[in-house]
Amino acid sequence: MSEYSRLSTESEVLLAVDNLTVDFPTADGVVKAVRGVSYNLRAGEVLGIVGESGSGKSVSSMAVMGLLPKSAQIRGSISFRGEELLGRTEKEFMQLRGSKIAMIFQDPMTSLNPVYKIGFQLAEAVLAHHDIGREAARKRALELLEIVGIPFPERRIDQYPHEFSGGMRQRVVIAIAMANNPDVIIADEPTTALDVTVQAQVLEALRSAQRETGAAMVLITHDLGVVAGQADRVLVMYAGKPVEIGGVDEIYYEPRMPYTLGLLGSLPRLDADRAERLTPIQGSPPSLLSLPPGCPFVPRCPLAKPTCDEQEPELVPTGEPGHYAACHFSASLIGKRADEVFAVTAADAALPASYGAEIEGVTGQVTAIPEQPKAEQSE
Ligand SMILES: Nc1ncnc2c1ncn2[C@@H]1O[C@H](COP(=O)(O)OP(=O)(O)O)[C@@H](O)[C@H]1O
Ligand code: SF4
Ligand SMILES: [Mg+2]
Repeated sequence: MSEYSRLSTESEVLLAVDNLTVDFPTADGVVKAVRGVSYNLRAGEVLGIVGESGSGKSVSSMAVMGLLPKSAQIRGSISFRGEELLGRTEKEFMQLRGSKIAMIFQDPMTSLNPVYKIGFQLAEAVLAHHDIGREAARKRALELLEIVGIPFPERRIDQYPHEFSGGMRQRVVIAIAMANNPDVIIADEPTTALDVTVQAQVLEALRSAQRETGAAMVLITHDLGVVAGQADRVLVMYAGKPVEIGGVDEIYYEPRMPYTLGLLGSLPRLDADRAERLTPIQGSPPSLLSLPPGCPFVPRCPLAKPTCDEQEPELVPTGEPGHYAACHFSASLIGKRADEVFAVTAADAALPASYGAEIEGVTGQVTAIPEQPKAEQSE
């Protein structure tokens, strides 16, 4: 949990997203990509947004950055420091991007230009919003490379992106994102394209960037495991909607929406005494072109009852401060483990109950492997 979390309830709301909806009219019908997302992001806070592929995580963040295609129909409100962003011109968004809100994408080459040296690109990012000389910009570029953990920055600064490994490129992108001390960093699946051994280093670089700039961060991922050590709060999305939001401890230890519990059941866990089996959620998310009237999780939910087909549940308080869940039978999850709610797969059932715990042990070792010179080319 971030060191800022203790302050978060008193600190200023930087980004306020209120009932955001995004529709995409297509030849097949209207894709309801985002169906009512609301959250507040306070100064210095890290909010994890978690959900399977296609749940509307990227579209809702692209709306914040003003990066959605013109065909998108956007409603609701997105305000930054109390000022509405929806309806701003591209020129106004350009001023905001980079200097106030920076974005990190899954593929670092989205942000890096292959024909320019790393140092030039970093210096450009610094110079875009600061009136300082080339020498000072280069000095700042070196500092930034150091903060994100690039070895031998004096040598690396004059190399091209292709001379860097995927993990190092992503760390350079993080350095670019922090170049102008943004108030908010939005990182969209920043480790998804990377090898598991490199993921931990990139997450560490993100943590350094956040510590150094004091920026608030939205960390988007399909992997609940990635936000565990990073986020203060977690928002879980399903079929374009938040289905649970709460402090990281509530989400991990007292989930009140079966989908969240299912995501946890798919994760190997460290707490060996719980001896849980891995219980992946069966099936796939519904089409956003034709959602049924009830809860969109019905076909995959072991707790579904006839009421669930009739009415989509709203996000309601669970009783814990700041913890909300959208499930008609939320209370029935109290004290339940994933392997008591979701069926254990045939393959898992054949294994001893400590299987999940053993897997986690291995995961722990893998993420602890220090930087491998071989993976980071030309060291
Ligand atoms: N330009 C677009 N036109 C039509 N549908 C889109 C467009 N962009 C995204 N979508 C749809 O919106 C939904 C949410 O997408 P996205 O936010 O990218 O999901 P996530 O980031 O959670 O994986 C998906 O069903 C996707 O196919
Ligand atoms: S509302 Fe019903 S179908 Fe939806 S998550 Fe809750 S129990 Fe499952
Ligand atoms: Mg995405």
